[in-house]
Amino acid sequence: MAGPAAGPGAPHGGHTAPASGPALRGAHVVLRRVTDADVPALEEILRQPEVKRWWMRDTWDRVDEEGSVTYAILVDGAVVGCIAYAEETDPDYRHAGVDLFVSTHHQGRGVGSDALRTLLAHLIDDRGHHRVIIDPAVDNERAIHVYEKLGFRRVGVLRRYERAADGQWRDGLLMELLAEEFVREP
Ligand SMILES: CC(C)(COP(=O)(O)OP(=O)(O)OC[C@H]1O[C@@H](n2cnc3c(N)ncnc32)[C@H](O)[C@@H]1OP(=O)(O)O)[C@@H](O)C(=O)NCCC(=O)NCCS
Repeated sequence: MAGPAAGPGAPHGGHTAPASGPALRGAHVVLRRVTDADVPALEEILRQPEVKRWWMRDTWDRVDEEGSVTYAILVDGAVVGCIAYAEETDPDYRHAGVDLFVSTHHQGRGVGSDALRTLLAHLIDDRGHHRVIIDPAVDNERAIHVYEKLGFRRVGVLRRYERAADGQWRDGLLMELLAEEFVREP
């Protein structure tokens, strides 16, 4: 999907994280807050067919979408993707929603798993979340595999949830991770 803040059960209350912050370090990736200078590289990635197929949007309107916190995924200092989260701030429903994409050239090398694992550790350990959600297209098997590997479980199908590039509504899969289910080590 195109951004972590959309969808039922997804955060809508705005984020409370600082506008900038320290980079997050994974086993191989570094997550650094996105800046305007990253936009050309990110738009180039978004235009790649295998990314656009699942993300849909191929332009970057704002560095941080309203209410979300966005990181560039860096490998050896180069921008190879993007990962973002948004938080529901109502204390009675507090949780985070996440989403990510990785350049076609870097897919299948563990980058997405490392980036998501790194962000989940931050959300659980530093920001105190007990529950995180994600909502891939129901037939995005690679993404679902990665999310289940890290401990996400399938909640249910979101029928005709998002509009694909061909203009057709397609189903999404709501997935959730409770903090104690997080698979921290590869
Ligand atoms: C989904 C995505 C973020 C995953 O990142 P990645 O760097 O490619 O993922 P990794 O290399 O860490 O892991 C890929 C895993 O998927 C598996 N995989 C690859 N193709 C698969 C398929 N068709 N079905 C099931 N699993 C598949 C790989 O074997 C690997 O699993 P393993 O670690 O158990 O061996 C990335 O592929 C991507 O950006 N895709 C396009 C945009 C997108 O779909 N974003 C997600 C929106 S919810």
